[in-house]
Amino acid sequence: VSAPILPGARLGMLGGGQLGRMFGLSARAMGYRFEVFAPEANPCAAAIADRHHRASFDDRDALAAFADSVDVITFEFENVPASSVEWLAEHKPVRPGARLLHATQHRVREKTSVRETGALTADFLAIREASDLARALEEVGTPAILKTATFGYDGKGQTRVRSADDAEAAWERIGRREAIWEALIPFEREISVVAARSATGEMAVYEPSDNHHVDHILDVSVAPSSLPDALRRRAQEVAKSLLEAWEVVGVLCVEFFVLEDGRLLVNEIAPRTHNSGHLTMDAAQCGQFEQQVRAICGLPLGSTALRGAGAMANLLGQEWETSSGAPNWSAALEHAVHLHLYDKGEARPGRKMGHLNASAPTPEAARECVLAARQALRS
Ligand SMILES: Nc1ncnc2c1ncn2[C@@H]1O[C@H](COP(=O)(O)OP(=O)(O)O)[C@@H](O)[C@H]1O
Ligand SMILES: [Mg+2]
Repeated sequence: VSAPILPGARLGMLGGGQLGRMFGLSARAMGYRFEVFAPEANPCAAAIADRHHRASFDDRDALAAFADSVDVITFEFENVPASSVEWLAEHKPVRPGARLLHATQHRVREKTSVRETGALTADFLAIREASDLARALEEVGTPAILKTATFGYDGKGQTRVRSADDAEAAWERIGRREAIWEALIPFEREISVVAARSATGEMAVYEPSDNHHVDHILDVSVAPSSLPDALRRRAQEVAKSLLEAWEVVGVLCVEFFVLEDGRLLVNEIAPRTHNSGHLTMDAAQCGQFEQQVRAICGLPLGSTALRGAGAMANLLGQEWETSSGAPNWSAALEHAVHLHLYDKGEARPGRKMGHLNASAPTPEAARECVLAARQALRS
């Protein structure tokens, strides 16, 4: 095990979105320097960075300058080319490594490697050519969800397949790209678990959160989940076994479907902090972004214990569609919430602009608090 990377060192982030920004805020709070590598002109993480390396993710000269400048590299965006990450890893530690990134960049590889650890997933089949559709109909059947194998997020690149007649048209709808055909799961609910593993092998797992989506985008998360203890512990064990199987150094998030009969199916893995973990910023002893700093720096991990319970409500661009053109911040902040805004500029519908967090003695109270505050924004 290498020596810890101590405050004063430079932490490098691939990707300039809100997850990078909030990591950077934690890093700076702890006395680290923070550098962002992202192709955009003004990504929201760069506003709080010491330096913005503005270049494309496959620009080797720019990657070399970035690697020279920082002490350790992490990412907030899983679609950084794996070849760039492998190349960077020859110059500076990249945590988590190319292995986890490679698995999570492709839905077929992801589900295959999850199954190899013994965890369950929905039945699936890879779709590469038209003839695979017939096989999928036979082996997995309908109703199903067809998702592009790569680059999907917030429900983008996926479509329902209602019946056999719809198979061809469904593939057409997602551009006849390489895809995964998944059985549609009649889940009772969706939960997720954020977990960290340090360079020393130490692990820390947060309480599972109950997640509610609207139009395929996360809307509200509440933790701890109201599931029975045994089920919550089982979800945490799955997250730990994935951290160990992939020798992750950093943070990951496991999204699950919970079935009526208590089975847990892994839906998706994020090789980084996650939107459903934002509530830990204000409700846990150590939030997920500070945890990510600690994990990649080889420091002792922080406590994941919640101060009672926590909730998070997302603020999407449509919140700006008010008569005054801006949300009513003062009204929202009458409630016991913490406001997190990402300084993204233009508020397009569906764009994640910020979130509200609350902690309270019970999950219900925390949820009511963020919902009431968000409602007040609209007044
Ligand atoms: N096999 C499935 N059965 C039922 N619902 C699904 C299935 N796959 C995805 N969904 C729904 O769509 C949402 C988004 O899918 P997901 O695979 O997590 O992609 P992403 O979050 O990258 O858009 C899930 O949170 C869930 O609500
Ligand atoms: Mg998802």
